[in-house]
Formats: sequence, C-alpha cells, structure tokens
Amino acid sequence: MTLIRDLDSSTLAHLVGNTAIMAAIRSEIEKIADTNASVLITGPSGSGKDVVAQLLHQRSRRAAKPFIALNCAAVAPDLLESEMFGHEAGAFTGAIRARPGRFEAAHGGTLFLDEVGDMATAMQAKLLRVLETRVVERVGGMLPIAVDVRICAATSVDLFAAIDRGVFRSDLLYRLDVIRIEMPSLADRIDDLPILIQHFTSRQPRDRGTPPIRFTDAALAVLMAQPWLGNVRELKNFVERAQAHFPGAVIDQGDLSKLLRIAIAPRPIAKPPVTLGEGFIDLKRILTDLETAYITEALAATGGAVAATAKRLGLQRTTLIEKMRRLHIGVA
Ligand SMILES: Nc1ncnc2c1ncn2[C@@H]1O[C@H](COP(=O)(O)OP(=O)(O)OP(=O)(O)O)[C@@H](O)[C@H]1O
Ligand SMILES: [Mg+2]
Repeated sequence: MTLIRDLDSSTLAHLVGNTAIMAAIRSEIEKIADTNASVLITGPSGSGKDVVAQLLHQRSRRAAKPFIALNCAAVAPDLLESEMFGHEAGAFTGAIRARPGRFEAAHGGTLFLDEVGDMATAMQAKLLRVLETRVVERVGGMLPIAVDVRICAATSVDLFAAIDRGVFRSDLLYRLDVIRIEMPSLADRIDDLPILIQHFTSRQPRDRGTPPIRFTDAALAVLMAQPWLGNVRELKNFVERAQAHFPGAVIDQGDLSKLLRIAIAPRPIAKPPVTLGEGFIDLKRILTDLETAYITEALAATGGAVAATAKRLGLQRTTLIEKMRRLHIGVA
C-alpha cells in the first residue's frame, strides 16, 4: 500500500536549496528535531513537505525507530479509525484478525499525518483525544495502549480557512500547530532552481557512460522565468523528461519548447466590463458591434492600410476583407 511508507534508513532525505529561506528551514529542523513537540508543515503541493517530515525524523533521537506516514486523504473515512488505531478481531465485517494501527506501529518513532485537513470532523475529535492522552484504543477493543509518538502533520490547504468553514476543529489545529514549518513555493525561492536541477540530474538513473544532462545559462534563465505551479515535483518531472529526450546533452534555450509543454501558464483572459441587466441578451449583436468597433478603430489607426490592420488584429488579410464586406465597413 502506498499510504504507508516505512522509511528505508539508507535513503537519506535531501532538502536541497541554498536560498536564505531554505537555510532558515534547515536550521529550524535541526533545532526542533529532538523535541517531542508536534510539527505542522504547510505549503503548496510539491514544495517538499514529505521531505521535511522525513528529515525531521532522521535528525531526531527517534531516527532508529519507525517513520510511519499515513495519508488521511487516501483512506476511506470509515476505515481511517482502524487504520490509525488498529482493531480487534471481529470488530467489524472483514476484521478477521486483530491488527495494530499506525499509532502503535510508530511507537518510539514519528507518525506523519499527511493531508490532515481532509480528515472528517468525527475523526478529528478522536485524534484530538489521543493526542491529549497519548493512549489509543483499538476499534472493538477495551484495553488502552500507551503510545510514544512524535506527531508531524502536513497540509496543502489553509486550515484556518477550514476552521472558518466549520470543517476543521480549532482545538485540533492548536494541538498540531505547536511548531510550524511553512514551505515556500518554488517561485518564492527560484534562485534554488539551478542547484535543484543539478541535484536531480546527478541522481537520475542513466545508461553507463552517459554524462548527466546540462543546461546552458540561457536555458536556465528561461527555466527560472517559468511559473512552476507544481513546484519542486514539477521540476523533478521536467528533469526526468529532459534526460529521456536528450540523454547526455547540453540543453539550450531552443530545445526547451519540446520539454516545457504545459509548464507555460495559461494566458489570463482580459475580462471586458459586462452589464447583464434583466432581460434578453443579444449576444450576436454585441459581438458584431464589438468587431465593427475594433476593425474601424484599427483601420483608422493605420490610415486605412488593410494589410497592417490585419496584422494588428491577428487576422489574415483575406479574412479581414471578408469581415469588412460582411460588416459594411469601408475604407475612407
Ligand atoms: N528541497 C528539496 N530538495 C530535493 N528534493 C525535493 C525538495 N523538495 C521537494 N523535493 C522532491 O520533490 C518531490 C515532491 O516533494 P514532496 O513530496 O515532499 O512534496 P509535498 O509538499 O509533500 O507535496 P504534496 O502536497 O503533493 O504531498 C519529491 O520527489 C521530493 O523528493
Ligand atoms: Mg506530500
């Protein structure tokens, strides 16, 4: 199952980045790793929240004990309780054998509650109680089981807004949010892009003898101007794609169009002022009037030069002439 990732101690979490903001995050992690205080990691998708949670565990005294991750959004709400706290045999249909939950599995180590904002409110109340008592009860069980876990939670949604909407408990937020680590978007630390690329290219599996791909300065400049809405995850996928298309190559600006595909942000739509009013809207008429007005103005601006007007309006010359005929626009 992908929701549970017991960390292989040989894979060290790498939090790459030289910007001041990343240096501050790294030193914060060092400072708090050995405390038992709960940590809430916020930040947009793909910004490195998982990496921080793993690093926090690896830098703590709990490192030799388990790191257990549970994605609260990936488990069906009615199964989440047994996933977290375990169940006894016969607790519900299908519960053939007793099974410890993630809290017990993480005993002595770290429990990473990912996408904690997606938890149903009834479950939030149960989690809160466990965080206060440090004792779990399996579903269908009677025995309280003491657990020693460091809680680390992550969210990509704004939990304060979720509280305002009544879908997240404020008392649970304060329990989780003892120490907060806010991950910046990649755009907010874009100077880290070259070093991140270097990190990913050096770690990409390659055929033996093929050198890592490299990017020219001009290409890097273009990449640094991209929006990277998917943050580091999107950059990592991009590097993988580049490596597959151009193994071992030096990639220049001109090669990027093949690789950047959807990475380019959609152009914002210019929104004209619209008054709807009450009754029927003669959209055809409005569009015809608008078209007539733009063509007339553009023709006036070019002194009636049809070719120049067509270019200005992004039309073929013949298309413009056809429109002028249809709209009865003459050149003065
Ligand atoms: N600072 C970093 N250094 C190196 N790799 C990073 C860094 N940040 C993120 N990554 C890599 O980018 C990918 C996405 O990161 P991660 O899974 O930690 O993001 P996330 O914030 O947890 O995203 P989501 O909200 O979607 O769960 C992973 O492959 C991770 O290894
Ligand atoms: Mg994550």
